Amino acid sequence: MARTSRFPGFYKVTVPERRALVSESTGVPVDHMANAFGSGGLNPEAADKFVENVLGVYALPLGVALNVRVNGHDHVVPMVVEEPSVVAAASNAAKMVRAGGGFQVEIDEPIMISQVQLIEVDDLEGGPAAILARKGELIARANKSIPGLVQRGGGVRDIEVRRIGTPADRMLVVHFLVDCRDAMGANLVNTVAEAMSDELASLVKGRPGLRILSNLCDRRCVRVTCRVPVAELATDDMAGPEVADGIVNASRFAELDPYRAATHNKGIMNGVDAVVIATGNDWRAVEAGAHAFAARDGVYKPLAIWRREGDFLVGRLEVPMALGTVGGTLRVHPAARLALEMLSIAHAGELAAIAASVGLASNLAAVRALATDGIQRGHMALHARSVAVAAGAIGGEVERVAACIVEARDITLEGAKRALELLRQSGESELAGSGVYARARRVDDA
Ligand code: MEV
Repeated sequence: MARTSRFPGFYKVTVPERRALVSESTGVPVDHMANAFGSGGLNPEAADKFVENVLGVYALPLGVALNVRVNGHDHVVPMVVEEPSVVAAASNAAKMVRAGGGFQVEIDEPIMISQVQLIEVDDLEGGPAAILARKGELIARANKSIPGLVQRGGGVRDIEVRRIGTPADRMLVVHFLVDCRDAMGANLVNTVAEAMSDELASLVKGRPGLRILSNLCDRRCVRVTCRVPVAELATDDMAGPEVADGIVNASRFAELDPYRAATHNKGIMNGVDAVVIATGNDWRAVEAGAHAFAARDGVYKPLAIWRREGDFLVGRLEVPMALGTVGGTLRVHPAARLALEMLSIAHAGELAAIAASVGLASNLAAVRALATDGIQRGHMALHARSVAVAAGAIGGEVERVAACIVEARDITLEGAKRALELLRQSGESELAGSGVYARARRVDDA
C-alpha cells in the first residue's frame, strides 16, 4: 500500500486490525507496535533509570490522527492523550483541511536561545559594545563547548546583548543563538551558557547570574496555513458558509478577549501536546513557549486565527516549537522511538510542522463544534463508545451499543450492559432505531 493517512472506518475495527493497516502504510512491523505500544513501552526497571523514587509506570492511550497531510506528505500521527474525542476531532478536521490541499507549513531554523544574566555590572554603557566587539572569538569559544553539535552542522550562530530593568538594576542579558539541528537543545544551550558566563562577566565588569535556555524560543517558530473549502464545514443542520462565519466569529472572540484566547489556545495544545508526548518530547517546554509567545505583545492572544476568503475558510497558526528527534527521552523510550519511526520524517523541523498542524486541526474541530452543535454532543457520542467497551462490547458491537445508548439518552454502564445483552439476544444487527432497547428499557424501568 502507498503511504497514506486515509483509513475510512478505522475506528470500527479492532486494535490488532488497526495496527495491521498502519503497518501496511508506514512499514512499521505489527510486532514492533505490539511490543512498544502493548503496555506503554516502559517497565519499572527502565523507568527507574529515567527519574527518581520510582514505584512503577503510568500508562496513557496512544491513538493516531488520520488524514493529516503536511506540505504534500501524508502522515499517520501518533497522539498520546487522556481526553476522549481529541484524536477523533483532529482526524475529522484534518480531513476537511485535506480537501483544500492539506496543511502548508513554514519552519524556522532550529535556533534556541541560551541566556546568560550578568549582574552587578559596573560597565553598563560600554559592556554591550565590549561583548559585541569580540563576537567572533566568543562564538568560536562557545562552539568549543559543544563539539558534537558543531560536527552535526549546528552551533552558535550569533550573540545579542540586552539591557533590562533600570540602571539601578545594573543588569545585562546575553543571548547565544544556537542552531540545535535535530535536538531539542536544552542541554546544549545550557552548556554554552555555563561555559561562557565568566568571560562575559569580566568583559562588563560584573558577575554571572543565571545561565539557562529560554523557553520563549521565538526564533524556532512554525507557521501553518490551511484553506478549507467552506462546503466541507457543513453539518446536518447548518450550511458550510454559515459554519465558516461562525468560526470567524469564534476567532474574533479569541482575538478580543484573553479569557476566550486561553481556551482557544488550550484547544490547539490538545493536539500539539499529544504529538509532543507521543514522540518523547518535553511538553512543558512547548507549553511555556506557546503561552509566552501568545502574550508577546503584552496582551494574551490566540495562536491561531480564522478568516473567510471567498469559498475558503483560512486558518493561520504561528507558534514556537522546540522539538527533537534525537537524544533525551528518545534514547531510552521504545514507544517514543516507534512513534517517531511511524512518522517517517527527515528532521526535527518536520516533526514540529506536524505537531503544529495537528494543533491547528484540533482548533478547527473545537471552534467548528462550538459554532454549531456545541461540544457536548460529540463528546457524548465518543464517551458512549468507551462506556460500551467497559460494558464488554467487542468489535462491531461497540458502535451498535454506543449508538443505542446515545439514542436512548442513557450513557451509563448499566445502560450499555443492558443494550449489549439485548443486542446479543435479539440477533438484530442494529439496535438503535429498532426500538428494542427503548421497549426493554421501559419494561426494566417500570
Ligand atoms: C477542550 O479540551 C478544548 C475546547 O475547550 C477548546 C475551545 O474551547 O476552543 C473545546
